[in-house]
Parts: sequence; C-alpha cells; structure tokens
Amino acid sequence: MNHTTGLRTVAATRYVTPLREGGSLPGLVEADDLGMYVLKFRGAGQGVKTLVAEIVVGELARRLGFRVPEIVLVELDPELARAEPDQEVQELLRASGGLNLGLDYLPGSFDYNPVVREPGQELATRLLWLDALALNVDRSWRNPNTLLWHRQVWLIDHGASLYFHHSWRPDRFPAKEYRFDAADHLMLPFAGPLTEVDRELSARVTPELVAEVLALVPDAWLDQDEAFGEPDRVRAAYQEFFAARLARPRTWVESLEAARAARV
Ligand SMILES: Nc1ncnc2c1ncn2[C@@H]1O[C@H](COP(=O)(O)OP(=O)(O)OP(=O)(O)O)[C@@H](O)[C@H]1O
Ligand SMILES: [Mg+2]
Repeated sequence: MNHTTGLRTVAATRYVTPLREGGSLPGLVEADDLGMYVLKFRGAGQGVKTLVAEIVVGELARRLGFRVPEIVLVELDPELARAEPDQEVQELLRASGGLNLGLDYLPGSFDYNPVVREPGQELATRLLWLDALALNVDRSWRNPNTLLWHRQVWLIDHGASLYFHHSWRPDRFPAKEYRFDAADHLMLPFAGPLTEVDRELSARVTPELVAEVLALVPDAWLDQDEAFGEPDRVRAAYQEFFAARLARPRTWVESLEAARAARV
C-alpha cells in the first residue's frame, strides 16, 4: 500500500479501449468503484516522470482554482492483458503492473477551441501564467490538452511539464532562466496584462502548497531518480525549483508579458 499519498487509489477491473489520439497510448479503464478513468500507464515510453508531472502540476492547478478531473492512483493487475487482443496494448498492460495514474473520464467532453468560444481574459491570463511557471510546453492551439465539458474549461495532460526533471542538474539550478516559449500557447491571443495575476498567483504558490502537492506523489515514483535517490530529496529538488522560479525578480514573467504585449 501507499503511505505517502492523499490521492484515492482504485483498482482497474477492465480495460475498455485505447484513446488513440494520445501520444502515450492512454487507455480508458473501468475500476472497482465503477468509475471510468483515463489511464496513464507507468510502463509507457515517456516513463514515470510524466506521471509525477501530472500529479504535481495538475494538483497545483486545482489548488489555484482551475478545473482538473480528479486524479487517482490506479492499481493494475497485469493479468488484464490476457483479455486484450491488441499486442501493443497487451505489452503496455504487462509493463504497468502496480500503480498507475488515472484521470476521471469526462464523458462527452471535446477539445476546447478558444476561437470558437472565447475563454475570457481572466482564465486565459491565469492559464498562460501557470503553464509558464510549470514549463508546460504542451498547451498549444495544435494540441490544446484542454477540454470543454458541461460548458466549462477543464485542464488535462500535464505530463510534459517540469521537463528538466528528465535530466536534473542538481549542481546548478537554472530555474529562473528557463524560458517559456509562449508563441504557440493556446491562450496567448486572449490573455491580458500579467502583473496582477502574477502578484496573486505567485503569492498563493507557497512552499507549503508545493509540499502538499509533492506529498501526493507515490514514493515509488520518486525513488528511481538517479540524481537524488531518496524520495524526499527529490521532493526537495522540486521545492527548490518552485522557490527559485518564484523568487524576485521573475524574469520569465517579464519575458512572458513582453511576448503577450507584442502579440496584441
Ligand atoms: N479525463 C478525460 N476525459 C475525457 N477525455 C480525455 C480525458 N483525458 C484525456 N482525454 C482524451 O484523450 C486524449 C489523450 O489524452 P492525453 O492528452 O492526456 O494523453 P497524451 O498521451 O499525453 O497525449 P499527447 O501527448 O498526444 O498530448 C485527449 O486529447 C482527450 O481527447
Ligand atoms: Mg495530450
């Protein structure tokens, strides 16, 4: 069992279907609570760090007031592969026994298109800020990773955020310099001046809040990190990233504001 996490854990009872659009071959599963979840497999090519990013950034977004489907841990019995005719899916299931990540499935949702339905300046500005903070390079107009459901905007797929964790440089922490290329960001054309939003949101992302979301990540997904070893040392490194990113002066916010103003 999992000792660190406050996320709900469910057990997958049936693999329903692959979601073919997703690069990581996410699948739809039914679980023992009779819920349906979009399963992000631990055994997928992108590796476990994308699941860490899903939790850290998804749960941070939720705490900053964005709508994010419930994130759960999904216990998967690799024997489910037996009933699966597709060989690629079979291999994925076999490679993913144990804990995986699930997102509550939003039935009838579809890709959000801000051109068809304008988001409002407030939401657009906040989302641009969040993605720049977390270095989420995966929210473009090509690949919005944002769903419209019950007439509301829901955020999904934060696996590409925090990309530096794929090769940590613990000796040197360039968190402040990491540039965020906003050129293709879904919300850039709709965002307003960042100053107010930056002031408010940066004050809300406290070390306590960051610790709270990091505590949701299972130890087993952190202790494989070559750069650090101990799960709590890895958590401390993420803390250090956010602290450095939020310390003044925030040059990334200045560049972001310049990109936004140039666009308008
Ligand atoms: N909670 C959800 N409810 C309904 N549909 C979802 C949900 N999560 C994902 N989807 C659908 O599945 C698709 C793939 O999911 P997601 O973007 O999370 O996977 P991915 O493999 O990381 O994708 P990619 O790398 O191609 O962006 C989404 O574009 C969306 O259409
Ligand atoms: Mg996606």
